[in-house]
Amino acid sequence: MNAPFAIGKGADAPFYLPQADECEVFATAHANRLPVLLKGPTGCGKTRFVTHMASRLALPLFTVACHDDLSAADLIGRYLLKGGETVWVDGPLTRAVRQGAICYLDEVVEARKDVTVVLHPLTDDRRILPIDRTGEELVAAPGFMLVASYNPGYQNILKTLKPSTRQRFIAVEFDFPAPEHEVPVVAHESGLAEERVKSLVRLANKLRGLKGQDLEEGVSTRLVVYAATLIAQGMPVDRAVLAAMIEPLTDDAEVKCGLLDLAMAVYG
Ligand SMILES: Nc1ncnc2c1ncn2[C@@H]1O[C@H](COP(=O)(O)OP(=O)(O)OP(=O)(O)O)[C@@H](O)[C@H]1O
Ligand SMILES: [Mg+2]
Repeated sequence: MNAPFAIGKGADAPFYLPQADECEVFATAHANRLPVLLKGPTGCGKTRFVTHMASRLALPLFTVACHDDLSAADLIGRYLLKGGETVWVDGPLTRAVRQGAICYLDEVVEARKDVTVVLHPLTDDRRILPIDRTGEELVAAPGFMLVASYNPGYQNILKTLKPSTRQRFIAVEFDFPAPEHEVPVVAHESGLAEERVKSLVRLANKLRGLKGQDLEEGVSTRLVVYAATLIAQGMPVDRAVLAAMIEPLTDDAEVKCGLLDLAMAVYG
């Protein structure tokens, strides 16, 4: 195994509490020039993890939010008119390839398949990016790494990655942190004391248990952080829970009542 980039302890990096060995997997993938796919529900820490690791590896980070109008030119670049002249402007993928940075494609399943095939020569051992418009064929600088994420829960038949795309990535599954991790994460992010965060996390896990019955998605760690932040600012707990952990989950009045009852039961 070669390790061309030193991995820092992350003292200056954005706060990220590891759930398992994901930091080591990511660093080893980077050292060995392998692309990484992060799978997991919304608000469970994928983006925070990538910003944390980019900082520890001292790599610039280019993030692209994928959507179905995203074109290959949005990633690679295009000719633009500037002061009467036509100049080539690199897209975020090309900049990452040239600089040896991380390119993070968020919600990659939203991108059209003709866009994801652009990634193919970059994600196998060639590590090249052909730019048809300029005739260049860039070889990725040593630090370059492609990272993509998606939420398997939202997938439908049309929104999946082609096997030839997904089988070019190492994949790491994320989930909501276990309570012993989620409590310190929420306390750190919100400033609310751990003792007070505990019941919010307990409620979150009860709400997550309803996924698939009344709720499409379980309450995210992001929302628990929001609730704790409101409480830390002095908002009454029931108001904060309604605003941050119930209203964002459903518009159905009956379901909302059920969730409120559950919240009351947790808070006794
Ligand atoms: N392990 C963790 N360490 C530190 N913070 C975390 C962790 N997990 C979750 N968080 C907190 O949860 C918030 C949401 O996480 P993040 O934005 O990374 O979610 P995500 O998985 O990228 O969601 P989405 O799929 O919606 O983009 C972060 O801003 C952070 O406050
Ligand atoms: Mg994200």
